[in-house]
Amino acid sequence: MTNPALLIEIKDLSHVFQGQEHQEIKALSAVNLTVKAGEFLVILGANGSGKSTLAKHLNALLLPTEGNVIIDGLNTDDEKVLWDIRQRVGMVFQNPDNQIVATIVEDDVAFGPENLGLPPAIIKERVEEALFMVDMLEYRQHAPHLLSGGQKQRVAIAGIVAMRPKIIVLDEATAMLDPKGRQEVMSVIDKLKQEGMTVILITHHMSEATLADRVVLLDQGKIKAQGTPREVFAQREMMRDLGLDIPPMSQLAEMLKEAGIIESDDVLDVEDLVKLLCP
Ligand SMILES: Nc1ncnc2c1ncn2[C@@H]1O[C@H](COP(=O)(O)OP(=O)(O)OP(=O)(O)O)[C@@H](O)[C@H]1O
Ligand SMILES: [Mg+2]
Repeated sequence: MTNPALLIEIKDLSHVFQGQEHQEIKALSAVNLTVKAGEFLVILGANGSGKSTLAKHLNALLLPTEGNVIIDGLNTDDEKVLWDIRQRVGMVFQNPDNQIVATIVEDDVAFGPENLGLPPAIIKERVEEALFMVDMLEYRQHAPHLLSGGQKQRVAIAGIVAMRPKIIVLDEATAMLDPKGRQEVMSVIDKLKQEGMTVILITHHMSEATLADRVVLLDQGKIKAQGTPREVFAQREMMRDLGLDIPPMSQLAEMLKEAGIIESDDVLDVEDLVKLLCP
């Protein structure tokens, strides 16, 4: 049975890769996860914990070894609905250079809608809307290779937005960017959220994770913890055991608490810290 209120339903998902020596690599094991429309979910986990493998199941780039992945009521193992699933789930990857296909920004953004076979007038409208959304409209005639990393990644996001997916999955889309570029991409994510898009962000930047509605922590292919950022980051021992950082402001609060300057280190962001320092 599928639940119509859930946009993503992952049931007992396992994924086994064949290694080079034909050994089995269990990248995901018995993962159960549901996502509601409009949620902003962040997936955290150490290198090799299965984050990208999970992401690739969301638009059927990979199919389950066991279990089911159901997107908007469509099962990824049903070949007949593959196209419908890919239309619903847009993916943005780490390297913006690998995602740009045209030599002019607006042609690049038009590539997806063109492949959907939309009429030219509609494509034009969607391209403008998408570039506006990522704050890149004034660069529409520019050459993508001359843009900064953050700008390129915003163009890549516009290319996805122009196809009007229900879900956007960003797999370490900020990893190759400088702090300014990361900030630019995060403000685009904030806008997407406001527009009601379901956003799934995979990141190693804990400050980005503090903005999520929910954080899912993967460890060796299994869900180790999930909850609000505050709930997950409160489990400091577990985070350390997994070799993961806690958000920068939480780290600072720990130091201030040790130095006797504040009494609590229940801090996620600057606002929390200010409240403790200036009650
Ligand atoms: N195509 C593949 N063939 C064989 N093994 C793979 C393949 N892709 C991933 N793996 C293995 O599956 C496990 C999970 O990998 P995955 O890329 O999903 O991790 P990740 O959490 O995204 O890591 P990272 O933070 O480094 O991106 C790892 O052990 C990895 O080596
Ligand atoms: Mg990965």
